[in-house]
Amino acid sequence: MGTLRLGVNIDHVATLRQARYATMPDSKNAEPDPLVAASLCERAGASGITAHLRADRRHMQDRDLERLRANIMTKLNLEMGNTPEILSFALRLQPDEVCLVPEKREEITTEGGLDLVRHRNDLAPTIKRLHAAGIRVSLFIDPERAQVEVASQLEVEMVELHTGALANAFTERFERQELERLGDAARRAANFGLQVNAGHGINYRNIVLIHQIPHLAELNIGHSIVARALIVGFENAVREMLALMENYPA
Ligand code: PXP
Repeated sequence: MGTLRLGVNIDHVATLRQARYATMPDSKNAEPDPLVAASLCERAGASGITAHLRADRRHMQDRDLERLRANIMTKLNLEMGNTPEILSFALRLQPDEVCLVPEKREEITTEGGLDLVRHRNDLAPTIKRLHAAGIRVSLFIDPERAQVEVASQLEVEMVELHTGALANAFTERFERQELERLGDAARRAANFGLQVNAGHGINYRNIVLIHQIPHLAELNIGHSIVARALIVGFENAVREMLALMENYPA
């Protein structure tokens, strides 16, 4: 049995704060505080904290990332689109890891994976600069052979397989098909020596399906944990998810 590590994406703690305080970022009443949530996640056993600094700053703000960097005790994984502005922020921030994601202004959350085949020439220099700064790099990709191959050629440490289609599957047939795609991509990535992570849309119900994907090292889970935390508190929400991740067959 392997251990599957949990990175908690706490963007939506900031989403809730911004819903009320976007125009008053310095208000002493601005809450909830993502850093408090991060500390509770760590205390409950999360292996890392993930946050996405979007170009439109709809949830996390620069200052949130700076405070997380200074205070979290596990590791900080910064999700980011490949733009010069966010790249220079990342190089200043020095997160432990960066996960490069596609970013569209109109989307509610990250929709598809990065198209590495199309964007490899734009990604290569960014990956080089992150590596030169000592930051480990992950690429968020759809579970497709061509994407895994280019990820390996780009010499990143990790891929994060997009589990959104599996999470939203509404027939068993489609579920099986997605699990096959994810399994195939995970095996290929592991064969290339890449660390294999997964994320998007994972919740307390569909986590059972995730156990069927081989070679996983880490899951990044955001929405479902933050939503559950509203009901049972952050520590309980994280502990409940960790319990459901136990006994991963590897
Ligand atoms: N992984 C990546 C690359 C993401 O962009 C997101 C969403 O920000 C997640 C994981 C978390 O997804 P969810 O909020 O659906 O758990």
